[in-house]
Amino acid sequence: MAERVEIFEVGPRDGLQNEAAEIPTEAKIAFVDCLSRAGFRRIEVASFVNPKRVPQMADSGAVLAGIRRAPGVSYAALTPNMTGFERAIAARADEIAVFASASEGFSRANINATVDESLERFRPVVEAARAAGLPVRGYVSCVTDCPYDGAVAPGDVARVAGALFAMGCYEISLGDTIGQGTPEGVAAMLEAVAGVVPPARLAGHFHDTAGRALENIEAALDKGLRVFDAAAGGLGGCPFAPGAAGNVATERVAARLAALGYVTGLDMAVLEEAAAMAHRLRSG
Ligand code: HMG
Ligand code: MG
Repeated sequence: MAERVEIFEVGPRDGLQNEAAEIPTEAKIAFVDCLSRAGFRRIEVASFVNPKRVPQMADSGAVLAGIRRAPGVSYAALTPNMTGFERAIAARADEIAVFASASEGFSRANINATVDESLERFRPVVEAARAAGLPVRGYVSCVTDCPYDGAVAPGDVARVAGALFAMGCYEISLGDTIGQGTPEGVAAMLEAVAGVVPPARLAGHFHDTAGRALENIEAALDKGLRVFDAAAGGLGGCPFAPGAAGNVATERVAARLAALGYVTGLDMAVLEEAAAMAHRLRSG
């Protein structure tokens, strides 16, 4: 039987957070509802961060309140601190994510904390979430390159991934935030991380700035990863990572995985509909 690979759809959060023009809440809800019909098991739809820093995500609570929740789908939200966690609980997020960086420069620019300070900040969030029965995912950004510090050592990625895993995150998503990774660099990084987190608990999160995301996914498949983050239509980028392009497009990842003989369980026609919708959201 063909092996299953899961795509974790992050379009409504990572795809939209960087859009400068305000997207109406209703349009975001329609996008999520379309994605819910495509067969994803997890969709990241919200981000409870400082709305002054990421204005596009300011209506995250209203998005979570307005979507039609499909049975069996987990609707996820980013929560950088206890304020974010409380907002996520109030909005009935099904799971949350904390997000750290392997590099100091991006950590400071993104969440205004050193890497170690951020890990300490996440500890009570993870504890509170687990006490409330909410699964917590952990992101590590800049797993190969940092827009501020340059090349990132695999050992630094392993240290942060290991700390998040030990804290209780059920899965660690490894972010090539600025899309500069190469298959060789990704493989070397994964070898280091596999020493502290089993590959079955890792996900790949590749931005496609240099056009190598699909190659990098193949390198990660070779290292045993079976979960990949992607955004319908390939939208996105991080406001605090200058020059970063969007996440690799979900429809391209799904097609490549199918060509490689993996099963994603996604409905390609609905996915194309979601991708078209994402492009319309961008163009207003
Ligand atoms: P800070 O400036 O250190 O926080 O922010 P603070 O505690 O001093 O608070 C500053 C202001 O933010 C205060 O409001 C707080 O109330 C408010 P003011 O008094 O100025 O009116 N505040 C909040 N408001 C709502 N919800 C909250 C919250 N927390 C504080 N949760 C903080 C620290 C992390 C909050 C801030 O730096 C921030 O919001 N940063 C934005 C980070 C972000 O969203 N980045 C993009 C997502 S990460 C990403 O894209 C990478 C990823 O995709 C993986 C990859 O590709 O690598 C995940
Ligand atoms: Mg990202």
